[in-house]
Amino acid sequence: MAHLVCVETTALGVQSIAYAKRLGHEVSLLRSPLYDFITPPAERARAQELADRTIHSADLQDVGELLRLLDGHGVRPGDVDAVLSTLSLCVLPAARLAERLGARGTPYAAVAAARDKGRCREILRDTGVPSLGFAVVSSLPEALEAAGALGYPVVIKPVSGVGKAVTSIVGDADGTRAHFEDAAEELRSMEPGLAGELDERYIVEELAVGELYSVEVAADGERFTPLVAVGRKTGRDNPVLELGCTVPPALPAGEEAQLGAYAVEVCRALGLDLGVFHVEVMRTERGFRLVEANPRISGGSLPDSVRMATGRNIFEILVDLFLGAPVPEGPLPWRRAASHTFLAAARDTVVPEELPADWFEEFRPRLHSGWSRAEPGARLREMKGNFDVFGMIRVVGADAGAADAECAAVRRDIEKRLGFPLTAVAGQPADAAPARDGR
Ligand SMILES: Nc1ncnc2c1ncn2[C@@H]1O[C@H](COP(=O)(O)OP(=O)(O)OP(=O)(O)O)[C@@H](O)[C@H]1O
Ligand SMILES: [Mg+2]
Repeated sequence: MAHLVCVETTALGVQSIAYAKRLGHEVSLLRSPLYDFITPPAERARAQELADRTIHSADLQDVGELLRLLDGHGVRPGDVDAVLSTLSLCVLPAARLAERLGARGTPYAAVAAARDKGRCREILRDTGVPSLGFAVVSSLPEALEAAGALGYPVVIKPVSGVGKAVTSIVGDADGTRAHFEDAAEELRSMEPGLAGELDERYIVEELAVGELYSVEVAADGERFTPLVAVGRKTGRDNPVLELGCTVPPALPAGEEAQLGAYAVEVCRALGLDLGVFHVEVMRTERGFRLVEANPRISGGSLPDSVRMATGRNIFEILVDLFLGAPVPEGPLPWRRAASHTFLAAARDTVVPEELPADWFEEFRPRLHSGWSRAEPGARLREMKGNFDVFGMIRVVGADAGAADAECAAVRRDIEKRLGFPLTAVAGQPADAAPARDGR
């Protein structure tokens, strides 16, 4: 029996705890209310129920404190086999804790390099991995200078951002100014658990134009494999917004292999050699270019779509790797396609009071799975990032094209039923019927 420490969990990440328990391992869960805004109460409760012990801390970033708390529960260095986190905001302390406990974990230096988007690009540049032009800045004048040197359009995002926080695509100097003005406002209303990650540094980088993909790269300490590649849906009006994915990606086999090889090259350069990593890549005219290397497994709904398509649970693979198993053969073969789309409001709105409370159930027969928390009368915020999503729909089909098309059709019908515009997906035909609010 092994002892696994999980530093927080995402909603789907609870599957890794459940799997470790099914195998008969001991699981200690470290939690903080700072991240309650990410993981819904039911999943949090489930994680705690499954774990052998849950240790609460006000600050999971303070690894000295985590060591003291574990010690207080009789868990000492040498007792723990592995430390992992499925939550972006906790991968750094998980890696540090693993090192301090002498347990298996993703190397701290590699996690730190990947979490720092500037450092990540420097490493790619220095190791000759194709990347994008960039500069790290701390003020508006520096950003204006950097963007001028790179040439507009550029992307401006926090060096250690997640969930699309304070991220803009800007086309000119006025856009750069607007980014910094809006940033002040966004930072004020941000969840403390997220705001705590950010400092004054932004990365200004070349805009990669093309289609977005992601690859889950698995590594066992020596060998790397691209486990699964996925096509990503992005916002029609704001390409920064992520609106879902399709497994497998609609790419010719040769290009899928190139994409996988590129994502592996990125992880190898960064030293991300133990775990499953979520690497986001744009297919541009010049070839594949990194958008972001996340030093943790995919969040959101993607792991379940991978399971629908391949029959494999990537959280189980994650636990196996942390407990010493070799990487499985990749890419995982797929049996059918799965496509999911997030539901979010295109602007601030209120769900019509006259809708029946169970309106979402009308769509259930056309879905493989899905959820909505848009109850009649609920206020919805315009989608600015991942945390503004109010629902998800998932469809399975014989291939990516069929699953994608049906998912888009259900989304259009939901939009008509709700009577307000949903955040539009790039490349999908717009709804012909005017939205009920007349705008
Ligand atoms: N250089 C770029 N070129 C083109 N698009 C980009 C670039 N950088 C970021 N984007 C777009 O902005 C989105 C957010 O960027 P990024 O993934 O770096 O931020 P994030 O906040 O860490 O996202 P998350 O944590 O949700 O994965 C990307 O998914 C991509 O659509
Ligand atoms: Mg990202």
